[in-house]
Amino acid sequence: MAVCVVGSVNLDHVVRAPRIPGPGETILGTDVAEHPGGKGANQAIGSGRSGAETVFVGAMGNDAAAARLLAQLRGAQVEARVRTTEAPTGTAWITVGDDGENVIIVVPGANATITELTANERALVGRARVLLMQQEIPESAMLQAASSAAEGALVLLNAAPTREVSPDLLKLVHVLIVNEHEAADLYGSPAEAATLADALLERVPAVVLTLGAEGSLIAVRGQEQVRIPAHRVPVVDTTGAGDAFCGALAAELDCSETALDLRERLVAAARFATSVSALAVQQPGAASSIPTRSAVLKAFPN
Ligand code: RIB
Ligand code: NA
Repeated sequence: MAVCVVGSVNLDHVVRAPRIPGPGETILGTDVAEHPGGKGANQAIGSGRSGAETVFVGAMGNDAAAARLLAQLRGAQVEARVRTTEAPTGTAWITVGDDGENVIIVVPGANATITELTANERALVGRARVLLMQQEIPESAMLQAASSAAEGALVLLNAAPTREVSPDLLKLVHVLIVNEHEAADLYGSPAEAATLADALLERVPAVVLTLGAEGSLIAVRGQEQVRIPAHRVPVVDTTGAGDAFCGALAAELDCSETALDLRERLVAAARFATSVSALAVQQPGAASSIPTRSAVLKAFPN
């Protein structure tokens, strides 16, 4: 019974500014900070803080950033199975505007060295009930991970950041988690959320389409779509909110009854994940803004 996240880990360098500057423009910022990040590690932390037994498989350099990032993972009860590489720990260079929106450039470093999984890493994946991946490590390793998942395990792909996804990988994915931009990229053009979700169901059995302040849409092949509303909350920093959602979703799927139908499991999981991300956007930083299960239940009792 566990969630295995195979993915990236970065040290985030965050500049706050009144707004995000345009090309060729210079503006004055207000402060800089370093925060633990990386979509893979953030999602593992989201899963761990949501109470699931969680393993993170990734790579870091032999540097100060690595020690800090490992401590963050362990603090969230995540078992970190991290390789040490000659390449430095990945970094992300982030600007956050006063409206809480961001722009991010990731420099992969160690993350780019994960071109294949070791036998041990494949065995870890094989023990999980839920495998969760993002697109900040080479696809060759993701393909190996997806092929190592146990019979009956759920393979979740958060197709972020956007890049080509091979049909071979998509064939192994049970649940695709995307925002509207990522969905439009996979589909080939922008369209209504319901249309995007329907089109993606031709490639994967289930889609969770996240719609920011509009909540999310759950689509499972052959069944009616279900809309999950978002909570109305003040936004401080949206960085990592999508990761918080994915990690919480995976954790809930890990503990949900497999006898239930997949759509029911996804709907229940997405409701909890929506509450997790509603708290995450109210705090600065990515991983550090992800709440524990008890904080979520306190803020949104039901
Ligand atoms: O999704 C947010 C994350 O994207 C940041 O933590 C940054 O490291 C990049 O991976
Ligand atoms: Na945040």
